[in-house]
Amino acid sequence: MDIPLLIHLAYLIAAILFIVGIKLLGRPSTARRGNTLSAAAMFIAIVATLLNQQVLSYTEIAVTVLVASTIGIYAARKVAMTAMPEMIALLNGFGGLASALVSTSEYWRMTQEGDFEAIHSAVGISMALSIVIGAVTFSGSMVAFGKLRGLVSGKSVTFRGQQVLNALLLCVAIACSVMLVVHPETHTWVLSLLGVALVLGILAVIPIGGADMPVVIALLNSYTGIAAAATGFVLNNHMLIITGALVGAAGLILTQIMCKAMNRSLISVVLGGFGQTTSSAEAEANDIVVKEIGTEESAMLFDSVSSVIIVPGYGMAVAQAQHAVRELAELLEERGVSVRFAIHPVAGRMPGHMNVLLAEANIPYDKLVEMERINDEFASTDIALVIGANDVVNPAAKTNPNSPIFGMPVLHVENAQTVIVCKRGMSAGYAGIENELFGYPNCLMLFGDAKATITEVVNELADHHQR
Ligand code: TAP
Repeated sequence: MDIPLLIHLAYLIAAILFIVGIKLLGRPSTARRGNTLSAAAMFIAIVATLLNQQVLSYTEIAVTVLVASTIGIYAARKVAMTAMPEMIALLNGFGGLASALVSTSEYWRMTQEGDFEAIHSAVGISMALSIVIGAVTFSGSMVAFGKLRGLVSGKSVTFRGQQVLNALLLCVAIACSVMLVVHPETHTWVLSLLGVALVLGILAVIPIGGADMPVVIALLNSYTGIAAAATGFVLNNHMLIITGALVGAAGLILTQIMCKAMNRSLISVVLGGFGQTTSSAEAEANDIVVKEIGTEESAMLFDSVSSVIIVPGYGMAVAQAQHAVRELAELLEERGVSVRFAIHPVAGRMPGHMNVLLAEANIPYDKLVEMERINDEFASTDIALVIGANDVVNPAAKTNPNSPIFGMPVLHVENAQTVIVCKRGMSAGYAGIENELFGYPNCLMLFGDAKATITEVVNELADHHQR
């Protein structure tokens, strides 16, 4: 069989595996298989690409693969689950940068070889798209990384005329793209396009802050795919077009899901500048008087109930409390208590964060109930146990129009007969706002690290039963 045919066949198989893999990723129970299948597809795609003799020397590739794999394996092992969104932001950014650089070097190669005809065609338009989207993704992702890491302010950064400036920069980028296609011999256009796109990426992400970051990460993820697909057209590589389109589409669907979860419109995300923390909301924050409860009293409360809904949040991930939480759930179930987990779509710091943690602790998937399905059930529940969650249970999203999270769907924990909130102190959540829930008459604060505290409750509960 000749090599080009073999490559196309391998690409076709990889594309099918990618599609099946993505489909399997849609359900927690099949997600691992989907991941393995997609990784196998990526391996096939890489090997097939290496069969292409036009590819650089194998020595250069081997050295690059070795260095990159070492960094990748190190990062995958070392990065804490809670730092995953930052890692995703970095990966998105480098994906975008790779697309922009590949297209720029293709431009360079073509102009050096005097092949201007190619750039005058659809290839030139793809090149411009790849450079602009790739560069916006890179600089935007770096800002997102800085915000998530706390290197730059996580709050919305705005100034007068920001939207106008963004629109102006977009027009300049379009003009540079047109000039790049019409006059490819002038390098100024491609360099200007890169520069303008980098600035645009920064300006597009700085106004987005607080609880709205998940939407941005998902959107930047889809941009990476679109940039890769455009690069695929530049290189005439079908695999890159297919995988880029898959990532772009999956990212857009995820963005849509995140928008729905945050009750934001996609257009406002694209325009940026949403999710601003209004000063009035901050000013309205007042000192909340709370009622404390200890682990022993909590155990006594749990001893006399018939239904519990556990609401996990980011703090459970920080404390790595998922195994202690499973023990608590098992102990309660042994006593005939109905235990379910309420999953908010943006609880934690990445899509599916809570599902992953609870799956790791072997909590059956059928115990995990999505927000829309469980919200009406709180009213008939004895205890809502909130573990390290804050923003996703903040009633201000329903009651305070000045709150930056107003309109975001939240879990109606306050409707349960008793709410127990386990967290270390009175610190705010990701959105940086106070939570009036903690002062509600039916709310009890169980202060302490989630893992240590829940473990103590489990021990107390076990003691009670033995007595
Ligand atoms: P948050 O609102 O961030 O609240 C987490 C709470 O956990 C904090 O108030 C903290 O209070 C507590 N905590 C921290 N460490 C703890 C520990 N060791 N033990 C016990 N508690 C601990 O969490 P959430 O309710 O899950 O909401 C998620 C937020 O992140 C939303 O605003 C969402 O928009 C945003 N976000 C989500 C994503 C995705 S895709 N999920 C991505 C980026 C941002 P103490 O310090 O007082 O303990």
